[in-house]
Amino acid sequence: MEILTDFSLKNYNTFGIEAKAKQFVAVHDIADLKTVLEQNKSQKKFILGGGSNMLLTKDIEALVIHIDLKGKKIKQENDDFVWVESQAGENWHEFVLWTINQDFGGLENMSLIPGNVGTTPVQNIGAYGTEIKDTFVSCEAMAIKNQEIRTFSKEECHFGYRESIFKNDVKDQYIITAVVFKLTKRNHKINTSYGDISGELLKNNITNPTLKDVSNAVIAIRKSKLPDPAELGNSGSFFKNPIVLKSDFEKIHQQFPEMRYFDISETEVKVPAGWLIEQAGFKGKRFGDAGIHKNQALVLVNYGKATGQEILNVSKEIQATVFKKFGIHIEAEVNII
Ligand code: EPU
Repeated sequence: MEILTDFSLKNYNTFGIEAKAKQFVAVHDIADLKTVLEQNKSQKKFILGGGSNMLLTKDIEALVIHIDLKGKKIKQENDDFVWVESQAGENWHEFVLWTINQDFGGLENMSLIPGNVGTTPVQNIGAYGTEIKDTFVSCEAMAIKNQEIRTFSKEECHFGYRESIFKNDVKDQYIITAVVFKLTKRNHKINTSYGDISGELLKNNITNPTLKDVSNAVIAIRKSKLPDPAELGNSGSFFKNPIVLKSDFEKIHQQFPEMRYFDISETEVKVPAGWLIEQAGFKGKRFGDAGIHKNQALVLVNYGKATGQEILNVSKEIQATVFKKFGIHIEAEVNII
C-alpha cells in the first residue's frame, strides 16, 4: 500500500476537474484500511468513493483515502427473498446488473446511476420511483477515530430524500465498507409508475416487463437525458428538488400556474429544480467550459477545462436567478469541496 503525494484527482471525480490530493492512498481490503487509519491518526483525512457526487473547487490538503474494497455475494436466501452484500468499492451499476442477471428484483429502477455502492446510503440515492432505502437492510462502517466496525440498521440510517445519518449526526465519522440489500426472488414488485418508464416500455411494445426490461428502459431514458461522465464531465443532479411549504407554494403557484409540483405530505410539495432552472433561462447555456446540460437543466457539465470554482460560480448564479424569479432556494445536492 503506497501513499502517493501531489496526486492528480482528475480521473477520480466524474466532473473531470483537475485538482490535487496532498497525499493519496487506495485501499483494497479492510486490514489495509485499518492500518492506514491507525498510522495516520493525526493527519487530516478525506474519504473518496466513486467521486460521482462532488465538485472539487481546490486541492485537497489531506490524506485522500480511496475506498476500493471489492466483492459481492449472496448472504442468505429463502424461497422469496435474497440478501446480497456488496463491498463499498464495487461500481453501483455493475452491482445492479449482477443482481438483475440473477433475476433478483428491487434495484432495476436505479440502473446506470454513477458511483460506488459504498456511497449509496450516504445520500439515499434514488431514481424513477425507487430509493435505496426501499431495499436497504444494513451497512457496515468503520469508525475513523478507533477503527471499530459498526453495523447501521435501516432505522439507524434515518433515510430521507437524498439524506441520511451519514450527512448529519455522524458526518465524517465513519467509512462505509459494505452494504446489504434484501431483494425479491419471485413476485417482483415491478414499478413503472414513473411516467418516463411506462412510456419507454410502451414504445417497445412491452406490456409485461421483466426486471431486465425495466432496467433497459431506465438505461435508455438516462442515456437520452443525462450525459455520460466518460464523455462530458458531470455529477448527475447538481441540485436537490426543493421542498416548499404548501402555504408558500400556493402564492407562488398563483403567479406561475404552469409550475410543476408533486405532493409529498399534507403540508409540503416538491418542485422540480430542473423546471425552475429551465424557466430561469439556463438550460443548455455555456459559460467558458462550464455549462448547463441541454437535455436536463439539473445537471451542470464540464466541457473540458472548467475549474471547480467556475462551475461553483455558475451554480451560484443559477441559485440567485431562480430565487429572484420564484422566491425558491435551490440547494446543491453535490458535495462542494
Ligand atoms: N424538467 C424540466 N426541465 C429540465 C429538467 C426537468 O422542465 O431541464 C421537469 C420535467 O419535465 C419533469 C420534472 O422536471 O416534469 C422532473 O424531471 P425528471 O423526471 O427528469 O427528474 P428530476 O426531478 O429532474 C430526479 C432526480 C434524478 C433522477 C430523476 C428520475 C433529484 C435531485 N434528481 O430528477 O437523480 O434520475 O429524478 O427519477 O432528485 C441524480 O440524483 O444525480 C439524478 C440524476
